[in-house]
Amino acid sequence: MKLGVMGCGKMGTALVAGAVKSGAIQGADLIGFDPSTSAREAFALATGGEVTGEVSGLAACDVLLLCTKPQHAAEALAALHGLVSSDGLLISVAAGLDLAWLSRHAPPGWRVIRTMPNTPALVGEGAAAFACGTGATDGDAGLARTLLSAVGSAHELPENLLDAVTGLSGSGPAYAFVMIEALADGGVKAGLPRSIALELAARTLRGAATLVLESGTHPAQLKDQVASPGGTTIAGLAELERLGLRGALISAVDAATQRARELGRS
Ligand SMILES: NC(=O)c1ccc[n+]([C@@H]2O[C@H](COP(=O)([O-])OP(=O)(O)OC[C@H]3O[C@@H](n4cnc5c(N)ncnc54)[C@H](OP(=O)(O)O)[C@@H]3O)[C@@H](O)[C@H]2O)c1
Repeated sequence: MKLGVMGCGKMGTALVAGAVKSGAIQGADLIGFDPSTSAREAFALATGGEVTGEVSGLAACDVLLLCTKPQHAAEALAALHGLVSSDGLLISVAAGLDLAWLSRHAPPGWRVIRTMPNTPALVGEGAAAFACGTGATDGDAGLARTLLSAVGSAHELPENLLDAVTGLSGSGPAYAFVMIEALADGGVKAGLPRSIALELAARTLRGAATLVLESGTHPAQLKDQVASPGGTTIAGLAELERLGLRGALISAVDAATQRARELGRS
C-alpha cells in the first residue's frame, strides 16, 4: 500500500503521525502533498514520510487521505483524475462532504470512506466515526479504523448517523471548552488564582471522563458515589439541575446535528 495524504495540515499530520507511531503504517509507505512548504516540513518531521509540492507525486498511491479544508476538496480531487490508477480508496476527513459527493469527485473507479474525527485527535485522544461507500471492502473499513484508532477511538456507522456524530463528538470539544472555562470562572469567583482554577477545571473534566471510560461504570452511579447526603456536591448538583445544564447539553447536540443536516443538504 502507498498512502498519499492530500493536505498536510493539523488533522492530516495528527492522523498519520499517530498511525506511524502505533506501527500501523511505515514512513516509507507514505507521501504527503501540500502546496504549503511549512505544512510539508512539519508533516515530514512528524511522520518520517516523503513530501511533495506537486500533485504528480501522488501518482503511485492506491490509498488517499483527503485532509484539505472542505472548500479545497473539489479542486484537490480534480487534480487526481487521469493521474492515479483506476482502483483505489479515498478516505476523507473533510467535514460535511457526504459519500455521494465524494463518489462524484473521487477518481473514477475509486471506493470512498467518509470519516468524522474531532480535534482531540491532535493530542491522541480523538473520538471518531466513519461510514463506508458502496463497494468499500472489509479491508478498506479496517484501514480507516486503524488510522482513526491510532489517535483515539473509531466506530463504523451508517452514513445517516454521521450528522449526530458531528453534533456530539465533532462539536463536543467546544462544549467541553466552555464547561472548563466556566468552572474556572467559578473557581476564580471563589478566590482561586486563574491559572490554578483553569488547571483544576481541565483536569477534573479529563479525570472524570477517564473514570467513566476505564471503570465502565455508568456516570449516574459515579455521580451518586460522590454526592454525600447534605454535602457540598449535592448542593452544586442541585444548582445545575435548577439552571438546566442537562437540557442545555441535550439541546446543544440536537442543534448541532440539525445544522450538520442543513449544511449537508446545501
Ligand atoms: N482540525 C480538526 O480538529 C478537524 C476535526 C474534524 C474534521 N476536520 C477536517 O479536517 C480537514 C483539515 O482540517 P485542518 O484543521 O487539518 O486544516 P489545515 O490545518 O488548514 O490543513 C489543510 C491543509 O491543506 C492544504 N491544501 C489547500 N489546498 C490543497 C490542495 N488543493 N491539495 C492539497 N492540500 C491543500 C492547506 O494549505 P494552505 O494552508 O496553503 O491552504 C493546508 O496545509 C478539514 O476538511 C476539516 O473539516 C478537522
